[in-house]
Amino acid sequence: MKPVTITTLTSMKQAGEKITCLTAYDYSFAHLLDSAGIDTIIVGDSVGMVCQGHETTLPVTLSDMVYHTRCVASGCQRTLIVADMPFLSYEVSPEQTFTNAGRLMKEGCAHVVKIEGGRTMAGTVRFLTERGIPVCGHLGLTPQSVHQLGGFRVQGRDNAAAERLRNDAHDLQEAGASILVLEAIPSELAKDVSAELTIPTIGIGAGPDCDGQVLVLQDMLGIYPRRSPKFSKNFMEGNGSIQAAVEAFIAAVREREFPGPEHSF
Ligand code: KIV
Repeated sequence: MKPVTITTLTSMKQAGEKITCLTAYDYSFAHLLDSAGIDTIIVGDSVGMVCQGHETTLPVTLSDMVYHTRCVASGCQRTLIVADMPFLSYEVSPEQTFTNAGRLMKEGCAHVVKIEGGRTMAGTVRFLTERGIPVCGHLGLTPQSVHQLGGFRVQGRDNAAAERLRNDAHDLQEAGASILVLEAIPSELAKDVSAELTIPTIGIGAGPDCDGQVLVLQDMLGIYPRRSPKFSKNFMEGNGSIQAAVEAFIAAVREREFPGPEHSF
């Protein structure tokens, strides 16, 4: 079984093959996703909302992320594992970020770390990538900035905001980022950014033209007790088991059936 690497994802982008991605936070679900053939797992700081019951991702600690990433890694043989750097673990200095990212890789066994933010984080992304730590960027609705954004809102709607996001994407790529998550932005903007960049984009609420798609596992299984976002879809509907729902998600992304216009902006 050939492991999925960053090179695999870049080749998939070049070949026009869609990348499949879901979040996971523990051994059993990670094993199920890995066995179903998912390409990438993001150990998201969404753990704070869907596992810990917080209203936002802000309370999640680096120790939480190391612990959950290690649990996920125990369940995976093939999948590329991306671990979120939680709020306040990467903003203070590139040096501190390097130490914290190192823990996610050394103790958590992550392959890639994910950082929210654009131009302001480019120096830090360069510091990490020049020292051997692969980075996934995250633009658009960046949940750690929820209070600054005034809620979980669609981003990049007007021309100025779209231009800023586009520049941020290029800055992250130039700084060495290997993957870029685009969350809750208009489909047309995500389409343009995905076409302009050489690194793969993974969309969540960013329309059908990203190079891959990700959903939060609890949203796509319809088990999150609070409101799931409009861009999510409950794949348990019409499928008799969790395994069947995950397989249906993978097939729908690969066959470009998900996301539809009703999940996009
Ligand atoms: O925290 C998270 O789960 C994420 C993904 C949805 C991209 O950032």
